[in-house]
Amino acid sequence: MDSIRVKGGNQLNGRIPISGAKNAALPLMIASLLTDDTLTLENVPHLADVEQLIRILGNHGVDYSVNGRREKQQEGYSRTINFSARQIVDTTAPYELVSKMRASFWVIGPLLARMGEAKVSLPGGCAIGTRPVDLFLDGLQALGAELDVESGYVVAKTKNGRLVGNRYVFPKVSVGATHVLMMAAALARGETVLENAAREPEIVNLAECLNAMGARITGAGTSTITIEGVDSLSGARHRVIPDRIETGTYAMAVAMTGGDVLLEGARVDLLQRAMDILAESGAEISQEEAGIRVRRNGNGVRAVDVTTEPFPGFPTDLQAQFMGLMTMASGQSKITETIFENRFMHVQELARLGARISLAGQTAIVEGVSRLKGAPVMATDLRASVSLVIAGLAAEGETTVSRIYHLDRGFERLEDKLSNCGAVVERLSG
Ligand code: UD1
Repeated sequence: MDSIRVKGGNQLNGRIPISGAKNAALPLMIASLLTDDTLTLENVPHLADVEQLIRILGNHGVDYSVNGRREKQQEGYSRTINFSARQIVDTTAPYELVSKMRASFWVIGPLLARMGEAKVSLPGGCAIGTRPVDLFLDGLQALGAELDVESGYVVAKTKNGRLVGNRYVFPKVSVGATHVLMMAAALARGETVLENAAREPEIVNLAECLNAMGARITGAGTSTITIEGVDSLSGARHRVIPDRIETGTYAMAVAMTGGDVLLEGARVDLLQRAMDILAESGAEISQEEAGIRVRRNGNGVRAVDVTTEPFPGFPTDLQAQFMGLMTMASGQSKITETIFENRFMHVQELARLGARISLAGQTAIVEGVSRLKGAPVMATDLRASVSLVIAGLAAEGETTVSRIYHLDRGFERLEDKLSNCGAVVERLSG
């Protein structure tokens, strides 16, 4: 199994191109199931999760082709991909495929809306809490779906071949369930109103794509989304937004190591709260035309308390990275996780680098230390793994992060991007 070796102590200086957002690309790719026309997506990141979803969609009959023309980034970076679901050949998403990536469960929405039936395995994915699917099932039932759970599969059917618009109030904010109900309602008969919907930028990105395909969606980005169902959707060309989690991760890396980096293509409005918190901790953040510039020179890291929340609050996907930064702050900070119940697995690994963190329920209390020291550590989930890599960059000596297959699910060319800015990072295979 591959690992990453980091020699800490260097500042980061230079430019890092920010890739297309994984969490936007995945639902956009799934939206290709809604039409027999071609959906062209620009700026799709080159990631293990994207490749996995291509295989899953292929199983349903989606063909894909990568555009010959490279984008201005180097080879291997984000690409333009055409997806074409001319014919759906299978409405079953099997356990072997869905268990590898939770988001592939989301195919249930478009399959049901277009084909009137779907059989989708209950998901797997990151080991961060129980992550049920009750909201998806409640919401689809509100749109008239008939559901059964049989041997680990959700078997869904529409009553008369088509979903029917309705009002649905999410009892809890869910990004995935909002994506799925928006896609399902796009082809339902009549109007759907989703209340207490997720407001994440990835929801807006998907709504814009669906509208470009002929859907009639308003209010995406607010907590009430209205969808006027249409009979069919066409193809479109649409661009994946820049990855706000990748942006925040590298911004935190610079805040930890010191230095001056331009995050090319990044947009502050996609993660305003995290950037405000980072500025409070002592980093200088500015939006420039080419991207976000992050600097920290000389001044120490101030302790700041943070609570994760749905957008526009501080994202849970940056919690582990921020904790890494707070391990070096002067004083005590409290980090409270409200989205997932088991998302502190990085705590014991950060402790191996010399961090002082104690847990009280859903809150981590971090006592800043003057320096971290390199050690062998293990990646536990996607965001936790990257927090260990960036903590290693700021630690004295050598840190080896094992089980980094998690990283390849969500970070495009991490080692290259960091090495280009002066970090000493290498991948060890075997
Ligand atoms: C998405 C993101 C993930 C991010 C998360 C929260 C993608 C591919 N993944 O995940 O990176 O960490 O949003 O911002 O976009 N829940 C239920 N029942 C359900 C569905 C969810 O109780 O049916 C709970 C979850 O367990 C969790 C909370 O709702 O506690 C939020 O989860 P959700 O927003 O659905 O996360 P994902 O869409 O899976």
